[in-house]
Amino acid sequence: MNKNIQLYEQSYFASCSMGLENILSKELQSVGAKKVTISRGGAEFKGDTPAIKAVLNSRTASRVLKKICSFEVVDEKGIYNSAVKVSWSNIFNSHLTFKVQSVISNQVFKNSIYTSQLLKDAIVDHFRKAKGERPNVNVSDPDVLFILRAQSSGRGPILISIYVDLCGRPLHERGYRVNTVAAPLKENLAAGILLISEWGADSSTLVDTMCGSGTFLIEGALIKYNIPPCFMHLRSKKVWALQKLNFFAENKDLMLAFNSEVQDCLKRSVDGLTAMRGSETCLFGLDIDDKAVRAAKENTIMAGMADKIALTRGDALKTSSPVKDPGNKALVICNPPYGERIGDINKLDEIYYLYGENLKNNFKGFSAVIFTGNLESAKKISLKPQFKSPLFNGRIECRVLRYPLY
Ligand SMILES: C[S@@+](CC[C@H](N)C(=O)[O-])C[C@H]1O[C@@H](n2cnc3c(N)ncnc32)[C@H](O)[C@@H]1O
Repeated sequence: MNKNIQLYEQSYFASCSMGLENILSKELQSVGAKKVTISRGGAEFKGDTPAIKAVLNSRTASRVLKKICSFEVVDEKGIYNSAVKVSWSNIFNSHLTFKVQSVISNQVFKNSIYTSQLLKDAIVDHFRKAKGERPNVNVSDPDVLFILRAQSSGRGPILISIYVDLCGRPLHERGYRVNTVAAPLKENLAAGILLISEWGADSSTLVDTMCGSGTFLIEGALIKYNIPPCFMHLRSKKVWALQKLNFFAENKDLMLAFNSEVQDCLKRSVDGLTAMRGSETCLFGLDIDDKAVRAAKENTIMAGMADKIALTRGDALKTSSPVKDPGNKALVICNPPYGERIGDINKLDEIYYLYGENLKNNFKGFSAVIFTGNLESAKKISLKPQFKSPLFNGRIECRVLRYPLY
C-alpha cells in the first residue's frame, strides 16, 4: 500500500443539518460512540456497534458513513492514482451495484462529476485486476454509495477522504410521508427542532398551529413515546446498506449486535405505540389549508397514529389552546411561511405580528417555538425570545426562536 494512503478502522461520520451538530453528538454518545468530534454539518466518532445503532436510532442524522481511507493529492488525477491502490474488493462484492458522489467546494475542484468519475474508474480497475470482473454502476438506486470529500487548507495538497454509506435511503425518509405540502420540513430537521425546544418524554401537550404535512406532530409522538425513527422500516423489513458491506456481513459479532438492536427497536416501537394509544390525545395540529390537513391525516394514518393526533382546519392567528391545562413543558410550535418557497412576502410582517399577539392571549402556560428563515418578519413578534438557535433548512439560514408565555 502506498504510504500516502491512510486506511481506517471503526471510524465514522454522521451528517446532519448545520446547527444540529450538538444534538447529533449527544445522540451518538447515547448509543456508545467514542471520541465524538463535532465538525460543520456532522460529527466524527469511533465504534462499529455504535455506528449501526446510530443508523437505527438517530433522529437527527441524515446519513451515517464509514470512513474507508484518506490521501493527499495535488490535482484531480491523483484521486485515481491513489484510489486504485485501495482494496475495494474487501469492502463489497462485484455482484453489487455502486455509485460515487463527491462533496467538494468550488475552491478545491471545479467539477464534482469528474472527481466522482475518477474514483469510479479506480474502483472498477481495482476489481478487474483483483477479481477479473467488475461491479456495475447504478446512479438511481445503488447497493453501495461512496462519498468522496475534498478539503483544502488553502495552499498545499488537497485532502481526499472516502466514505461508504451505511443507510441506503437517507435517514430523514422515515417512510410515513405519503402526502405532502409545498414546503415540508425534512423529518430529521423537524425532530432536531423539537429536541432543541426541549420536547421530550415528560412533555405534555404539543400544538402545531401551521402543521402542513404533520411532520412536527409525528416526530413529536416518536420522541414522546420513545419510538425509534426506523419504526416504519422495521415493519417493511428494509435491508440497510450496511448489511451489504463485507465489514458487517463477515463479522458475526456485529451481525448479532445489529439483530439484537433491531429486536430492541421493534419492542420500543410496539411499546411506544401501545402507550400512545392508551393515553389521552396530547398532539394537536391545525392548518388553514384543507389540502394540508388532508396530507397530515394521510401521514398520521400511515404512521399508525391517526387516532391520537387531532387535526383540524383552522387559523393560527385566531386559534386558542385545545386544552384547558397545558401541563408540563407544553409546546406550541410552528414553521410559518417565510417567503422563500411559500408566503406572500408583503403580508408576512403582519402575519408574524398577529401570530405573536395570539400566542400571548391564547397560549398562556406554553412555550412557543417558531422555526423561520425570515428573521425580519420574526422581529414583528412583540415577545422576547428566550433563545435564538441558528439552524439551516437546506441552504436557508433559519432560527429556532423560543418564547416563554406567562
Ligand atoms: C412551511 S409550511 C409548514 C410545513 C410543515 N412544517 C411540514 O413539515 O409539512 C407552512 C404552513 O402554514 C400554513 N399556514 C399559513 N398561514 C396559516 C394560518 N394563518 N393558519 C394556519 N396555517 C397557516 C400553510 O397552509 C402551510 O401548510
